[in-house]
Amino acid sequence: MPIFDDKSMEFISRSPEQTRRLGVRVGALLQTGDVLCLSGELGSGKTTLVQGIAAGWGSSDPANSPTFVLVNVYRHPQGKRLYHLDAYRLSSAAEAEELDVPAMLESGPLVVEWAERIQAALPPANLWVTLRWVDDEQRDMVFKANGARYLQLLTELRRQIYGVP
Ligand SMILES: Nc1ncnc2c1ncn2[C@@H]1O[C@H](COP(=O)(O)OP(=O)(O)OP(=O)(O)O)[C@@H](O)[C@H]1O
Ligand SMILES: [Mg+2]
Repeated sequence: MPIFDDKSMEFISRSPEQTRRLGVRVGALLQTGDVLCLSGELGSGKTTLVQGIAAGWGSSDPANSPTFVLVNVYRHPQGKRLYHLDAYRLSSAAEAEELDVPAMLESGPLVVEWAERIQAALPPANLWVTLRWVDDEQRDMVFKANGARYLQLLTELRRQIYGVP
C-alpha cells in the first residue's frame, strides 16, 4: 500500500465522465511551464483525463489520442498552447530529447502519457499521476507532487475536491 502524505492524493473515479470532470479541475490550474506526467497501463484513462484537462485549461480544440503524431497541440484563445505528448512509441529518453521539451514549456503546459518511458527527458519537478484499472468503470489515480510548484497545485486540487485545507 502506498503511504499518503501532503504530497500525494488518491482519487477513485467511477466513470469516464468523472475522470473528465477531474481533468477539468486539473486543467484549470495548469500554467505555462507546468509538467503533468501520466503513467498507467493501456486503457487506464490517461487520454480521458487529458480530454478534461484540455477543456478545463480553455482549449478551443477537442483533445484526442495522439495516435499518428507524437504531440498534439491545443490552442487557447489567448495564444497559449497545451502540449499533449504520447510517449507510447518512444523507446528512450534520447528519442524524446529531439522533441525539445524546454521549448514547449516556454509557451504552455505539457501533459505526457507513458511518461515513465521518457522520464529522463522530463523535468524532475512535475505532477506525477499513476493510473490503475480497477474494473470496467473504475480507475484509481494517485497524484504525487514533485517540487514546490506541484505541492501548491495539488493542495489547491485537494481543497477543491475534498474541501480540506
Ligand atoms: N472511470 C473511468 N475513467 C476513465 N476511463 C474509463 C473509466 N471507466 C471506463 N473507462 C473507459 O476506459 C477507456 C480509457 O481509455 P483511454 O484512452 O483514456 O486510456 P489510456 O490510458 O489513454 O490508454 P492508452 O495507453 O491506450 O493511450 C475508455 O474507453 C473509457 O471510456
Ligand atoms: Mg491514451
